[in-house]
Amino acid sequence: MKIEKDFSLLKYNTFGIDVKCQAFVEYESKEELMDYVSSGALRNQRWMHIGGGSNLLFLSDFDGIVLHSKIKHIRTIQTQESGSVVSVGSGVIWDDFVAYCVKEQLAGVENLSLIPGEVGASAVQNIGAYGVEAKDVIQSVEALNVEDGKVYGFTNKECCFAYRDSFFKQHPNYIVIGVNYRLKSLSDYQYNISYGNLQKAMQPGEELSLESIRKTIINVRNSKLPDPKEIGSAGSFFKNPVVDRPVYEALAKEYPTMPFYEMPDEKVKIPAGWLIDQCGWKGKQVGRAGVYDKQALVLVNCGGANGTEVWQLAEQIVASVKEKFSIAISPEVCVIK
Ligand code: EPU
Repeated sequence: MKIEKDFSLLKYNTFGIDVKCQAFVEYESKEELMDYVSSGALRNQRWMHIGGGSNLLFLSDFDGIVLHSKIKHIRTIQTQESGSVVSVGSGVIWDDFVAYCVKEQLAGVENLSLIPGEVGASAVQNIGAYGVEAKDVIQSVEALNVEDGKVYGFTNKECCFAYRDSFFKQHPNYIVIGVNYRLKSLSDYQYNISYGNLQKAMQPGEELSLESIRKTIINVRNSKLPDPKEIGSAGSFFKNPVVDRPVYEALAKEYPTMPFYEMPDEKVKIPAGWLIDQCGWKGKQVGRAGVYDKQALVLVNCGGANGTEVWQLAEQIVASVKEKFSIAISPEVCVIK
């Protein structure tokens, strides 16, 4: 186990915010984590767990311990004609897992190609893109409860998944150690390319396959989202707001071209990127923070920004969307105060 004091988190958050934590603890196995927790090191201590740091905004130095998993296995634990169950360590890079599935011809996660972050966070955040969410493929999750030091198994239902939300997000005293995904074999598999511009983005005449979908999604994401290696960001900064149907209908009368997604229970999801774009924010810079010029949902670090600068820009955006559309948008990223 690696323990470093007074550690810079610059390389551990894709926003590129230069903050420090009191101690950084990296463990390589479930047993190492259990030993560390049962030693009492986290008792009466401020602590947090990070994954790839691709969904975080630090507003200041973190006055506590930051934990990070390096549990790295990818193992097929069950194979049937209909598909396989793959057990994956929380510290595996998410897209390495997607690449593994595509190579092994296991279907279900190809639409989630290139999402930054690690496997642990896929369950905490219920990551999603192009009509698929992690919840659609998660069979079960193993997590350690820091309060009693024990490891618990959660069925998909017990994870209480919702849009970018889960039991683990609501109960941060649980640390996800590993996730079992149920993938499908290709016989009878229905590829999902109906979402947004995916169908249009496929090469004309290109045969549908896990590889071609992965390639298309990588191209689409690269064209719309900044590469965290070049421009600091945390992907979508805001969640897409979900409103009651009458609210949507009133807005749609005024803005007939407004994009929307139908949701269950008479609800409608409206893209926050569109709302922010309509308020004129796309490509704008305030201090060293900005709104990405190809996608208004993404806030970027224009170079050397601190967390407070990004947060102040986010607050201005929330206020202008509220004023123009009477809709409250809220961050998707975790803001660490
Ligand atoms: N739009 C604009 N202007 C913009 C951005 C978007 O008019 O600046 C419009 C688009 O034309 C489109 C609609 O808004 O009609 C939706 O935009 P888009 O498909 O680009 O993104 P989204 O649906 O808002 C969500 C996820 C993304 C995910 C994509 C693809 C959230 C908060 N974001 O974005 O997830 O990749 O769908 O499925 O749900 C992430 O979570 O970090 C992330 C990138």
